[in-house]
Amino acid sequence: MAHNAVGIDIGGTGIKGALVDVASGKLQSDRVKLPTPAGGEPDDIVRTVQEVLKKLKADKKHPIGVCFPAVVVKGKTLSAANVSKKWIGLEAEALFEKSLDRDITFVNDADAAGYAESLYGAAEKNKGLILMTTLGTGIGSAIIYRGVLVPNAELGHIQLEGVDWETKAAYSAKERENLSWAEWAERLQKYYSTLEALFHPDLFIVGGGVSKEYADFLPLLKLDTPIVPATLRNNAGILGAAAFASGK
Ligand code: BGC
Repeated sequence: MAHNAVGIDIGGTGIKGALVDVASGKLQSDRVKLPTPAGGEPDDIVRTVQEVLKKLKADKKHPIGVCFPAVVVKGKTLSAANVSKKWIGLEAEALFEKSLDRDITFVNDADAAGYAESLYGAAEKNKGLILMTTLGTGIGSAIIYRGVLVPNAELGHIQLEGVDWETKAAYSAKERENLSWAEWAERLQKYYSTLEALFHPDLFIVGGGVSKEYADFLPLLKLDTPIVPATLRNNAGILGAAAFASGK
């Protein structure tokens, strides 16, 4: 079947990829997923991405978008919150291009997911100010206004009570500390109230694997801003990366 871009989503636990029809935002292949190599070192991750591409049998003429959990400026990774510190200051896009022997588009993972939700998902019809947050190993964020992404917002690292709040309110913190939904929701309440006071968005979207269990925690939050689960779930990063690669 024809596809017009490839999306690859590099995460703390898995590296996923699929062929994408960027006009409709539909996957055109099965999703391939391989475990992220322990330690998240650049060379190991690049090798795993090569394997994902091989399994996808992607046509070489189609653009490839790769999203990654770090600040990405002009192809360089400037941070490494939950991956190897070797990524800091690395010319990551160039590294992938060399080893994959083709051009790629390289972006932050939450930016890709948020952009996809604005194109094909929960904010498809909302052209206001959208704040997308992903609750996973860390907290990712994306700011989209009238369909345009403001890249590299790192709102997961807002300091509350003197600590980087991602360490308290990411889904990994719930698991690590064995928090009940209500206990976790208290931390999320602090987080989203702060974002609401700072940005006054039209809509919050909550993504990450836990968003499929949204009924257990979103109704516990008291906010003036509507807050909805992401609709593209695990495919948001893949779809957004592919959309960026195709210039959509
Ligand atoms: C990183 C972000 C990333 C998010 C989700 C955070 O720790 O700083 O760049 O988007 O995790 O993976």
